[in-house]
Amino acid sequence: MPLSKTDFTTRLLQDAQIGPGMRVLDVGCGSGEVSGLLARLVEQDGAVVGIDQAEAALALARERPVPKGAAHPEFIACDLHALPASLGLFDAIVGRRVLMYQPDAVRAVRALGKLLLPGGVMVFQEHDNTLTPASLVPFPLHRKAQLWLQRMLAHEGADLHIGFNLQRIFSEAGLAVEDLRAEALLQTPDMPYALGEIIRACLPRIIAHGVATARQVGVETLQARLDAERRETPGVYIGDMAFGVVARKR
Ligand SMILES: C[S@@+](CC[C@H](N)C(=O)[O-])C[C@H]1O[C@@H](n2cnc3c(N)ncnc32)[C@H](O)[C@@H]1O
Repeated sequence: MPLSKTDFTTRLLQDAQIGPGMRVLDVGCGSGEVSGLLARLVEQDGAVVGIDQAEAALALARERPVPKGAAHPEFIACDLHALPASLGLFDAIVGRRVLMYQPDAVRAVRALGKLLLPGGVMVFQEHDNTLTPASLVPFPLHRKAQLWLQRMLAHEGADLHIGFNLQRIFSEAGLAVEDLRAEALLQTPDMPYALGEIIRACLPRIIAHGVATARQVGVETLQARLDAERRETPGVYIGDMAFGVVARKR
């Protein structure tokens, strides 16, 4: 499958000149979706290392098929603050939806900067869905589901507004910010939108923080009810806001 030109992550990585032959670190790689994109961009002469503290997510990442011509990503379990020196240095360090979970994002970026070659880039994508949902007509179930996620993240101490802090974070960490962007992620009635599945994955945390009960969420029918709401409501719906930053090591 060709790389999607409309995907925010792909465009951010391509605009940051991530390309053939580069050695790239994917921080907080989770189940490896971004690592897979990177592997195709750097091609077989390049290298991708994905690190994450969650073994279960890495097991999924290791199962992803590698398309012909792409690099074979290597996945390592570790905390971003305890990266082994044996990892070596990278042309680029990339992360998506990971800095918002760090208690001290400046410290995290400084630690990662030690693994970046001089002149190398950091490319991070973070999200803020407190600005959404936005629509002319109400989408009450979508709004409710997003509030569950926001409240869960707030309980966990995540920085829900990190997009607005990216310029400061990377500057304070000593990097030169070259690109900062934000984009509304818009849904039309016919576009697949897996909000119900995201809620399913987060359900234990939503319940543990007392944000909602299993009965209130009704996860078995949630995705179908969300799909019906989008089908039956005229107009488009903005479900999330993506922020991207590209910063260079001097
Ligand atoms: C929301 S997921 C994003 C996964 C992936 N980047 C993506 O966009 O598909 C955040 C990931 O960051 C990882 N993570 C958070 N803090 C970390 C840390 N200090 N060291 C390593 N991994 C971390 C979590 O384990 C989780 O897999």
